[in-house]
Amino acid sequence: MSYGLLKGKKGIIFGALNSQSIAWKVAEKCHEEGAEFILSNAPIAMRMGELNELAEKTGSEVIGADATSMEDLEKLFDAAIAKFGKLDFILHSIGMSVNVRKGKHYTQMNYEWLKTGWDISAVSFHKVMRVAWDKECMNDWGSILALTYIAAQRTFPDYNDMSDNKSYLESIARTFGYYWGEKSKVRVNTISQSPTNTTAGSGVKGFGGFFGYANDMSPLGNATADECADYCVMMFSDLTRKVTMQNLFHDGGFSSTGVSQKVMDIYEEMSK
Ligand SMILES: NC(=O)c1ccc[n+]([C@@H]2O[C@H](COP(=O)([O-])OP(=O)(O)OC[C@H]3O[C@@H](n4cnc5c(N)ncnc54)[C@H](O)[C@@H]3O)[C@@H](O)[C@H]2O)c1
Repeated sequence: MSYGLLKGKKGIIFGALNSQSIAWKVAEKCHEEGAEFILSNAPIAMRMGELNELAEKTGSEVIGADATSMEDLEKLFDAAIAKFGKLDFILHSIGMSVNVRKGKHYTQMNYEWLKTGWDISAVSFHKVMRVAWDKECMNDWGSILALTYIAAQRTFPDYNDMSDNKSYLESIARTFGYYWGEKSKVRVNTISQSPTNTTAGSGVKGFGGFFGYANDMSPLGNATADECADYCVMMFSDLTRKVTMQNLFHDGGFSSTGVSQKVMDIYEEMSK
């Protein structure tokens, strides 16, 4: 059902790779709610061609940008400004760790790979906001969002250096969010999403275990990518104008649960 919550709003959505991507679902829902936007991804990801399908479905333009490249971002924002004038929302749905991809254990971290992953997963959020800031292209009461994971606060084996990257990302949201609020009433938040079966998610070693455990520990069960998209729409809408500099858990209650009956039952059974 559509409520027209984003009617007249313009934005940029980073990170839709395929139909499993959280950003893909967000784009579909933003379109349903009346928004217009540009879809962006790293040129290498766009060569896979799937993004064009989403662009057609949502009547959007696709503009490639490596989110770590200020030059690419400048070009992307110039094109967005030429098309829309000012923007109302930005979604940063970007993450990648070379250490995770190559199976390097956290204790044996490759620091060059760390730098690459940190730049892509965390610093790129600063770069995106910096370009938008310098070009003064956000409308008052605009909304900027990035996606994160609870490994920023708690330790999960095999989430590796992405834990540190997510902590950094969340800190950028708070710090830059302060300046955005003062400058032009723009809000900046992160959404901390349940494990979700996407290319990035399933690339983490032991993802099946992560997913099942989180589901059993969450009174409402894991939040799906579709549900995350609903939350993003709400955060882009005018219904959340005074929410800023927050890390918002969207996890079916996982973050507040000490232990669930379901998990207790497993250990009860094992102790017999
Ligand atoms: N899947 C999960 O379990 C989960 C849980 C919590 C948070 N998240 C976060 O959600 C976000 C989206 O991930 P997803 O799960 O939809 O997976 P995904 O693999 O579909 O999306 C990750 C995106 O990052 C893009 N990307 C990588 N390097 C880039 C670069 N240099 N420039 C621009 N884009 C680049 C990829 O092309 C891809 O589109 C990530 O920040 C991820 O950490 C995912």
